[in-house]
Amino acid sequence: MCNSLINKYNVAGPRYTSYPTVPYWDDTSFSLKKWKESLLLSFDESNTVEGISLYIHLPFCESLCTFCGCNKRITKRHEVEEPYINAVLKEWSLYCEILPGRPKIKELHIGGGTPTFFSSENLERLIKGILRKANLADDYEFSFEGHPNNTTREHLQTLYNLGFSRVSFGVQDYNETVQKAIHRIQPFENVKRATLAAREIGYTSIGHDIIFGLPFQTEAQVAKTIELTKELMPDRIAFYSYAHVPWLKGNGQRGYDESNLPSGDSKRAQYELGKELLSQAGYNEVGMDHFALKTDSLHEAMLVNKLHRNFMGYTDSKTQAMIGLGVSSISDSWYGFSQNVKGIEEYYHLIEQNIIPVYRGHILSTEDLIVRQHILNLMCHFETNWSDPALYVDELKDIVIKLKEMEIDGLVNFENEGIKITQKGQPFVRNVCMAFDVLLQRKQPETRLFSMTV
Ligand SMILES: C[S@@+](CC[C@H](N)C(=O)[O-])C[C@H]1O[C@@H](n2cnc3c(N)ncnc32)[C@H](O)[C@@H]1O
Ligand code: SF4
Repeated sequence: MCNSLINKYNVAGPRYTSYPTVPYWDDTSFSLKKWKESLLLSFDESNTVEGISLYIHLPFCESLCTFCGCNKRITKRHEVEEPYINAVLKEWSLYCEILPGRPKIKELHIGGGTPTFFSSENLERLIKGILRKANLADDYEFSFEGHPNNTTREHLQTLYNLGFSRVSFGVQDYNETVQKAIHRIQPFENVKRATLAAREIGYTSIGHDIIFGLPFQTEAQVAKTIELTKELMPDRIAFYSYAHVPWLKGNGQRGYDESNLPSGDSKRAQYELGKELLSQAGYNEVGMDHFALKTDSLHEAMLVNKLHRNFMGYTDSKTQAMIGLGVSSISDSWYGFSQNVKGIEEYYHLIEQNIIPVYRGHILSTEDLIVRQHILNLMCHFETNWSDPALYVDELKDIVIKLKEMEIDGLVNFENEGIKITQKGQPFVRNVCMAFDVLLQRKQPETRLFSMTV
């Protein structure tokens, strides 16, 4: 890939798991009351038709990986499990009390932190407690994130018996120097054991998370990690660009400094090499950062234009409403977003008082909804179109000027009243989205908020 393009487009930019992006949420016009209203409207429109999605955040991890940007609490005290599950179940009850009908769950995802920090018994109690107050959609999908070092056969079997058919394991990189630098020693044997057990039990989609651009990582190590990954052939691979965001409060990125990270050019070269090796191994790129075998539902969803992106990343089914439970979880009613408090003590305190523990959010304006649609189109299908007057925004002229420059650089092609991102432009999809991000264009952030786009 051309270095001058990387130099030009490698800027700080959002990953667009939402639009507006979290730093642009307008807290001043947001309230818990408005959030509930937007959720009730969405629930009313969509629950009986398609159902809703649930995301449950389980924040505990036994050991800190120093690269990690997730919301987590490090502890070895497993006594924390029970009160936390009680609080999540109570939060679910608070939602069920206000929803005008029995929720129908289409998608349920448990993320973290480390869901497999919890015992199988406690996870079973959590899921059974959630399902006691809900119906299931016919084609429901349950998934969870497992840490290969502590996912047991019992975890996998228990969750499978409860309806889980998808699991993703954090791999990151197999090289010892990299693993030491990120404080995550994780032998291949552990990943193999967890992956094979999941397959034997009957999981239909097994994913591995791999990261490029980690401290001390080289192209040779990325190649080695993919070579080992090929021995296990997971159905999906998230091939993430390491997001270096040490300024975010409490994320713990330390133990190395920027000089230990591969430069923009070598990071891009790692991506290009990884992409090539994954494609040789039979994986197809799905949206940004994701690869899947042809047999995986994410790949099928891409082929039939059903790919969707939300806070959980890419999914193969879209529900209008998604409720996030647990500390720091984000909910999305399509008309609005809300986020739960991040501190566990504060979360418990609000739940005890029967308060839905939301502390900030955003209600989408008509303009937000239009821009959101364009950004979703680009992130999921690498194209968008404004021929429909309902997808017109006032700033279109300025957006087109930016896109024209990207056309000269070979990143996009104009087609009718729309654009298609070219093969060459796909690694720069975040930059193309930024052209549509009118909030970002109107007000550039004063401090560093986002990771680099490349
Ligand atoms: C919650 S963790 C996965 C579950 C489990 N805690 C584990 O570590 O295996 C979710 C994934 O986010 C990705 N991730 C975390 N921090 C990241 C960062 N700074 N940049 C890119 N990806 C990151 C990792 O690939 C990780 O596997
Ligand atoms: S990568 Fe996983 S185990 Fe490590 S700190 Fe982050 S959430 Fe916890």
